[in-house]
Amino acid sequence: MNTERYTCLEIFAKAKAEGGKISLVSGKGEKMEKEASLVFYTWMKFSVEQNTEYEIESDTCEVTLCYLSGNEDMLETGVRYLEKEKGSGRYLPAREEEHYNSSIRETYHFAPWKNWMNDPNGLCYFKGYYHMFYQFNPHGQEWSNMYWGHAASKDLVHWVHLPVALAPQKEIMEKPGELVGGAFSGCAVVEGGEAVFYLTRHIEPRGDSGRQTESQWMMKSKDMIHFTEEKCLIERKPKGASFDFRDPKVEKIDGRWYMVLASAIGGKGSILLYESEDMEHWTYLHPLLTEGSEGIRSFECPDFMELDGKYVAIGAWMDHRDDCGRFQMSRYYIGNWKEKKLETESSGWFDFGSNCYAMQSFVHEGRRICIGWISDFYGEHVERENGAYGSMTLPRQLHVRNHKLYMTPVEEVSLLKGKNLYHGKKEDVSLTSIEGNAYRAEIRFLENTGFSILLGKDGEKEISLCNDEEGLRIVTKGVKSEGINFRAEVKEVTALEIYMDRRVAEVYVNEGEAAGTKLFYNSSGKGCFILKAEQPEKISEVEVSLMDGIWNGKES
Ligand code: FRU
Repeated sequence: MNTERYTCLEIFAKAKAEGGKISLVSGKGEKMEKEASLVFYTWMKFSVEQNTEYEIESDTCEVTLCYLSGNEDMLETGVRYLEKEKGSGRYLPAREEEHYNSSIRETYHFAPWKNWMNDPNGLCYFKGYYHMFYQFNPHGQEWSNMYWGHAASKDLVHWVHLPVALAPQKEIMEKPGELVGGAFSGCAVVEGGEAVFYLTRHIEPRGDSGRQTESQWMMKSKDMIHFTEEKCLIERKPKGASFDFRDPKVEKIDGRWYMVLASAIGGKGSILLYESEDMEHWTYLHPLLTEGSEGIRSFECPDFMELDGKYVAIGAWMDHRDDCGRFQMSRYYIGNWKEKKLETESSGWFDFGSNCYAMQSFVHEGRRICIGWISDFYGEHVERENGAYGSMTLPRQLHVRNHKLYMTPVEEVSLLKGKNLYHGKKEDVSLTSIEGNAYRAEIRFLENTGFSILLGKDGEKEISLCNDEEGLRIVTKGVKSEGINFRAEVKEVTALEIYMDRRVAEVYVNEGEAAGTKLFYNSSGKGCFILKAEQPEKISEVEVSLMDGIWNGKES
């Protein structure tokens, strides 16, 4: 392979036997070697000459991720992934178009190049780019010791993948049978020309989460490629807090810095509130809020913000199952900021599809934008070679209206709108074979009417959106989530925006009054949109368009 303008080769490798190593041989015959651990995946970085041919020899190792990095323009170009060519065994630049143009992964929802991801972390806008870090296991399609993956975008929709930013602690990696943990979730704020990151470092004896320890750390960056060493800011949880003590989210409110953290107090899910003057020394105040409902181990990935004159807290209900059968829903709380607590006036579900977890928000130019992890709590993932497990919702803009949290896709999503497939009104619509299965549908009703929309069909498996006397809900058939009531908290339906993206359905109701995200693995490669209304004359408009992918570098 040729290094083009890159100066570094990064490889994650584990030795197959004692002495396993990676060798890099340049076209001039020069050889570099690095030994891999037999116990854990070693993250190796080789300095390479630009525009030079190299061969990678990896026979004695298992390699899980390999890419070129370190050019002067990383935020523009991203990394260059290398994949081992079947047959020759040579590492070559991955065929990106082929990789992305596959029914096994989303085309306009962010997902890692491959392997496992969960929560969005460190979302921010910094020196011309949006940044998204995320919980990442580069080594397989399952949760494991956590790294931070990283991506950047100029327009919030087209992303480039950047080098892995953080690795699990060495002590954890060295004892894979005994310990588990890593660089857990956290956030970023931009202050004084620097990005300041807060994150949790987690260590847990395998199989005994009751003895986990979590501490809060800080690091900084001036260019989003190089990061300072991490510094421990909060080593111990406050008295009374459960062993869950993580996921720092920092916000400036009324000129002061606040940090919220996930925990529980007295068996009730709680969001802990800290305060700081200098962003480094933090004082525990009290719980920002405690949820009375039973069965919540902790509020994971809490967020807290001022929005449209109100104060909003959002958190993911760990381990909780609601009366519709939905697992681990996220809830928002809207109210007033009284004596540094949230005096809640109203609350609701963040996403009625329940495949959206650990959302995180940030502000840019007055917009409060959030992204959530498209999770799989019903075990519906289908593992495929080079597949990714986990992806992100579309970036959503948040507002408070009528005591509810409204969210709509950010306007940049419209950049992806492609060829029109249907435009009409007052009739049922039947599009049965949508090539590529990546589309957007917008539907307006003169007034509430019963309907069903078939959004995906793969043999006997189905996903649809129904509105009848039981209300609006996503209905799945022939998959593990069948029977769960994915019900939206709306009284009537006057507008729908539906985003189908191969294995993801994201639905926005009544200009953002509710949002629902649901996975639906569809191996057919073909999409469908079949709308049947009780009173078609009440359909004032339907528009269905294909959606472009986000990886082809289409300029905004
Ligand atoms: C939520 C979560 C966080 C934690 C991270 C670990 O999905 O459990 O609370 O920081 O994932 O990957």
